[in-house]
Amino acid sequence: MTATPVLDALGADSSLASLAPRADFPLLAAQPALHYLDSAATSQKPQVVLDALTNFYTTANANPHRGAYALAAAATDAYAGARETVARFLGAKDADTLVFTRGTTEAMNLVANAWGAAHVREGDEIVITALEHHANFVPWQQLAKRTGAHLRIVELTADQRIDLDHLAALLTPRTRVVAITHVSNAVGSITPVAEVVRLVRETSPAIIVLDGAQGAPHLPVAFDTLGVDFYAFSGHKLLGPMGIGGVLGTRARWLECQPWQFGGDMIEWVNDHDSTWNVLPHRFEAGTPNAADAVGLAAAVRYLEALDMRAVREHELALLRSAHEKLAGLDGLTIYGPPPEQRSGVLSFTLADVHPHDLATILDQHGVCIRAGHHCAQPLMRRLGTSATARASFYVYSDASDVDALVHALVEAQRIFASVAD
Ligand code: ALA
Repeated sequence: MTATPVLDALGADSSLASLAPRADFPLLAAQPALHYLDSAATSQKPQVVLDALTNFYTTANANPHRGAYALAAAATDAYAGARETVARFLGAKDADTLVFTRGTTEAMNLVANAWGAAHVREGDEIVITALEHHANFVPWQQLAKRTGAHLRIVELTADQRIDLDHLAALLTPRTRVVAITHVSNAVGSITPVAEVVRLVRETSPAIIVLDGAQGAPHLPVAFDTLGVDFYAFSGHKLLGPMGIGGVLGTRARWLECQPWQFGGDMIEWVNDHDSTWNVLPHRFEAGTPNAADAVGLAAAVRYLEALDMRAVREHELALLRSAHEKLAGLDGLTIYGPPPEQRSGVLSFTLADVHPHDLATILDQHGVCIRAGHHCAQPLMRRLGTSATARASFYVYSDASDVDALVHALVEAQRIFASVAD
């Protein structure tokens, strides 16, 4: 098949407008020709988030929890208010069970150290999957090495979903941790969380840790009814600033954790030879908190709430379906992952034997930003039999013109590489 029918399909769905006005995002507004398709790596930021950061620093900047004066109280209130807002967005009634971290990576290290180190023993089992980002792989791999626990890895179906039969087969009464991604960053597969929770609760006493780095930005999340023990996320992927994220846990599980970082604010009393610990969530937030970015994150989630997370999901699905339809005729294209209905807005692909980095470079010349590489998921790449894929990812500000630009640039890349090969 030639590329021409692919190009003929462009513009067919011009009704697919962005969900959020591009004008709300200063970087996108300033660069109208830019097609930003790397939101799985980090999202663009709306003006309301930038304003919230500036507003904190210009009206409320002081060190939270540390001053008796009015300005310090304003900083404390702003930080506490941000926690309430973000917890509500993620469906958690008890805001004190939200611990702010730098992001998902720090959140996973927190749970592996604070809960894992206290409860995982030699001979226990830790279950992860072949789909995981390194942030939800390496902390558990290293915990297993340190404790003498066995690391079990759930394999995948042919279309890169978690193989639930294999998960069921790996669960035993010795399983102490099941750590699974909510949504794959590399190929977009959405985990059927209810099914995982049912399987785990039937067969083992394990805690369930969900990596929500790619879940929270793209799907409605109701932590209180999910049935998992911990849910980690990053703010910068959901329109918020870099350097802020967090982890929700059930109160019972948090009370089983040992502090993992020590210092200011996380203590109750410091005696010469021992200390006691502050209440939740402060016990797990040593040092000056990242209050300004928490306030920025709260502005981001209010923006998403106004859009409605169900609408966000529908929007990304429509874009993904459109991209699939338009790319269907492109020779040599392999798209990874399950059908769009079981994926978030991620299109992970290879084009014949063109290296994904070369593809990304050509697409960049067309103003199309995609990520190429192993996506911090080397175990998955090994199972795909490739060292890298190219990945386009959509978000609320993406529209039909982004899909068309991607398709157009891929056709051009194919033409260039075909002429080199001739
Ligand atoms: N984890 C981010 C990604 O998937 C950086 O691109």
